[in-house]
Amino acid sequence: MPGLLTEPDFKHITVKELHPTFVAEIQGVDFSTPVDPEVFSEIKEALAIYGVCVIRSTGLDDTRHVEFSRLFGDLDDIKPYLTGGRKPKFPYLELFDAGNIDDNGEVVKLDSQRAHYNKGNTLWHIDSSFNPRRASYSLLLAHTIPPPGTGGSTFFADTRHAYSTLPSPLKHQLESNNYTAAHSLFHSRKLGSPAYFADLDPTQHKMALHKVIQKHEPSGRMNLYVGAHAHHLVGVGDEESKRLLKECMEWATREEGVCEVEWEQEGDLVIWDNRCVMHRAGGGSFEGLWKRDMRRTTVHDDSSTAWGENDRRDVKVGFNMTS
Ligand code: OGA
Ligand code: MN
Repeated sequence: MPGLLTEPDFKHITVKELHPTFVAEIQGVDFSTPVDPEVFSEIKEALAIYGVCVIRSTGLDDTRHVEFSRLFGDLDDIKPYLTGGRKPKFPYLELFDAGNIDDNGEVVKLDSQRAHYNKGNTLWHIDSSFNPRRASYSLLLAHTIPPPGTGGSTFFADTRHAYSTLPSPLKHQLESNNYTAAHSLFHSRKLGSPAYFADLDPTQHKMALHKVIQKHEPSGRMNLYVGAHAHHLVGVGDEESKRLLKECMEWATREEGVCEVEWEQEGDLVIWDNRCVMHRAGGGSFEGLWKRDMRRTTVHDDSSTAWGENDRRDVKVGFNMTS
């Protein structure tokens, strides 16, 4: 197998590698009944090795999506986003909306707040890095996908490969300073659509602090933990902080460490470990025209660095979505 770790000995699932350093498609999981514990532990093992696992045509619905996700740990919920009497769109508060459908069931208008908000998701990011307790896994399930050839893929970047191939001067600087980055959802919204969110000031909101170099505990490998929510490096001058974050991001998203995952049919599920990959929505000509209904569960990290440098009493910062 091309350049990966040890050849895993899976008894229940079949693993097909989709990239030389990470990402695999898993076959052989029966979702018609609750997933067998032995099968589940092989999925976790595959995730520890590959960071991203694609499972086609699962047949999962909302209920079983949430039930299956609970096997991974405690789930995050959308409560901080339900401001101003806003009602949840889906039957579970554990389902995050990663799609482009508005409250009337129509494709979001390109000039709506929601469309501008979504632009932040097209930047390389790590889910929930802006929360005091970060996320481990995200499980994104396709409910409706746009027609072939109109875009809508999800791209992944291997942050363990990024770390292990770091050029020495950068590696030395990162290691000797052991930087902490301050993460903010407002920062990435603003980066995604600067004019629309011109009045948003990320510094007016509490940021979440996480180390830039982290050990991915399931594999024991180090990785670079940055992404579009990373606003600045704590205690570093503004210019130097921007330069270093940019350098890390450019390094981590080089062609050789990036994999595109295409959604083929509804029921396709992609599970990724935010502690060792970044991702971004690919966008495309479907935007404003075709429905893309994607729902995501997000698992609270339970590794020793889950809370980063934050206080365990810190609360999640929400976003006041108006439309
Ligand atoms: C997400 C996300 C990307 C996509 O659900 O966290 O970033 O392609 N999704 O929808
Ligand atoms: Mn995301």
